[in-house]
Amino acid sequence: MKFSASVLALLAVVSSVSAAAISPLTPSDVSVAGTEEYTHTLEKRVNGDITWYDAQAGYTACGLLVQNTSFTVAVSAARYDSTAVDGNPNHNRICGRKIRLRGPLRTLDGFVRDRCAGCKHDDVDVTPTLFQQLVGPLGLGRRQISWDFV
Ligand SMILES: *[C@@H]1O[C@H](CO)[C@@H](O)[C@H](O)[C@H]1NC(C)=O
Repeated sequence: MKFSASVLALLAVVSSVSAAAISPLTPSDVSVAGTEEYTHTLEKRVNGDITWYDAQAGYTACGLLVQNTSFTVAVSAARYDSTAVDGNPNHNRICGRKIRLRGPLRTLDGFVRDRCAGCKHDDVDVTPTLFQQLVGPLGLGRRQISWDFV
């Protein structure tokens, strides 16, 4: 409700500016600005568990062969499936998306290249190397982390 009201207020400002300006904003100018606003609102930081997996056991859901040492991230099946474009998981829009992971040891950027069937909505599953650098020894198994898309 609050969001809708502020969008309406923004639109009201944009249309009054547009009406008063010598060269009015084109409809595409207006929609680009609106889209950025909307994106920032949605892409907020989330908290979830981080685990690791043998990423080089086979093809990832994105259809890639990756190394255990790569900065590969698998997002939850719920997230992955919500960005599917067709029946082929390799075509998923989320593939290649950059993701900023804030672990207990440091912050690193990885890339979404896989789907994690056992993850809850905001969990991530990563390569052994990424887990070690963000969290510590593989024996820790699971920790909490915050992350966002960048
Ligand atoms: C990937 O790393 C894990 C953890 O060290 C290891 O268990 C697994 O065998 C590695 N995979 C391959 C294919 O080497």
